[in-house]
Amino acid sequence: MNRYTRTGIEGLDAILNGGLPSSSTVLVNGAPGTGKTILGMQFLYDGAQNQNENGIYITFEQFPDQIYEDMRAFGWDIKALERENKLRVVCMSPETLLEQMKLPNGLFDQLVKEINCKRIVIDSLNLFYLGIDDIVKKRSTIYSIRNILRKHSLTSLLIHENSTVVSEEETFVNYVVDGVIKLTLQEQNSIYRKRTLEVLKLRGRKIKEGEHIYRINEQGIHLIPALTMIEDKVVVEERTNITTGIPVLDQYLSGGIPNGTSFIFDTNSKANYSYITASIVTSRILAGEKVLLLLSSLVTVLDIEHLFSLYGVSLKELVKDKKVYFIEHYDRPFPEFYKDTVIHVKDLSDDEFKHFIKDKLDPIFAKGTEDGDKWFVYYDLNTIVSARGKDFVKEYFTEEVAKISSYGMSMVALCNFTEIGAETASFLERTCNGVFQTWVDGNYQYFQLKKSPQGNMSPPLVVENIQSKPFIRLV
Ligand SMILES: Nc1ncnc2c1ncn2[C@@H]1O[C@H](COP(=O)(O)OP(=O)(O)OP(=O)(O)O)[C@@H](O)[C@H]1O
Ligand SMILES: [Mg+2]
Repeated sequence: MNRYTRTGIEGLDAILNGGLPSSSTVLVNGAPGTGKTILGMQFLYDGAQNQNENGIYITFEQFPDQIYEDMRAFGWDIKALERENKLRVVCMSPETLLEQMKLPNGLFDQLVKEINCKRIVIDSLNLFYLGIDDIVKKRSTIYSIRNILRKHSLTSLLIHENSTVVSEEETFVNYVVDGVIKLTLQEQNSIYRKRTLEVLKLRGRKIKEGEHIYRINEQGIHLIPALTMIEDKVVVEERTNITTGIPVLDQYLSGGIPNGTSFIFDTNSKANYSYITASIVTSRILAGEKVLLLLSSLVTVLDIEHLFSLYGVSLKELVKDKKVYFIEHYDRPFPEFYKDTVIHVKDLSDDEFKHFIKDKLDPIFAKGTEDGDKWFVYYDLNTIVSARGKDFVKEYFTEEVAKISSYGMSMVALCNFTEIGAETASFLERTCNGVFQTWVDGNYQYFQLKKSPQGNMSPPLVVENIQSKPFIRLV
């Protein structure tokens, strides 16, 4: 016998260290609209469709037609599975169910045998209680349900709509079942809401504790385990043609970052933005563009060489082909190989800096435009702020945005809005065509598209670390 029953929700299986213990009875507790029905159906659908584990969904309130209809949004054809005798959606009253469960060879026994049922969802326990006034009777009822489910070796989810008041019965149910999963919906940023899942108990199983965020998307429930810093990155050879390299971001941008536009990327020191920027820059390179990189104090050319290599881009090749330039504000030693590509600007006054860059790079950009070669510009504005001050940045950035637009190039400029202050930040935001923001809140990093040339915005998306290119996923 299987010791684990995979739930079909990848992230949930991860925090359960493999899945639910087979034949266990687990309570799924949550307020209306938290996704209990979807979770239950996803569990049954995965079992029937992929795990050779057939299932029964018992509902007291919703008609099967409504459920078929709702689940079609996730691409789950429940009716087809019913025709193949892999799934049953049954609508009956709690009284009938209880009666039939207790009856040897009753309807319940027959149903289970008929399809060789391994998984069951009962939606919901609340209605079981409704008809029973007596506490002792309530308890014996829940007890016998659990025992019958166990007798049939069914891995069971008992859905329970929680009220704000924790009653004695609820405490008792929590005690009787093998596990409790709690779903909550909280407010975040006043207009967006955050869904979290917590496993409150699970007998005989080590679990990843705490609240884990989940989203409901077109595949159903997607749960992102908290604290998923992935240390070992795998270099994947596969080439992508996606402009930012980040599929969800491309969707919000209607395909990617358009030529002729400049984006500001507001980051704070705690957030890890290097995969996001590396994905954007290397996607441009893989699409054939050349790059100008203004480095930050924290990042060396060797860091970039390593980071790019994760995305299948060889910085050395770019140097050989004269497809990359660096602007260096810190006079750090560069390996000999890179010498010709580095523009040292540390000792230049503000005016000299502007003219020097202009004289050196404008002809290259102009020639690129003539030849049909595009340059992509990546600036760490924090470097220019600390070297030359805010006022210089405002003026310089405005000119750069105009120039980039006139050459049909594109730019992403990193900037810590908290450090430069609200007034400069809002000026920069207005000047450019698009704004990305990333920040850390609790155990999660978020990303949001706050302005785009297409006029789109995204909600705050969770940044999930993944093992393969682009090493992050926005959920
Ligand atoms: N196709 C979809 N895409 C994204 N979100 C969806 C989709 N369908 C439903 N939802 C979200 O899921 C929620 C409903 O899920 P579900 O019916 O599973 O909740 P529930 O906890 O069973 O609610 P109730 O207690 O009312 O039965 C909706 O409030 C909606 O926010
Ligand atoms: Mg429901």
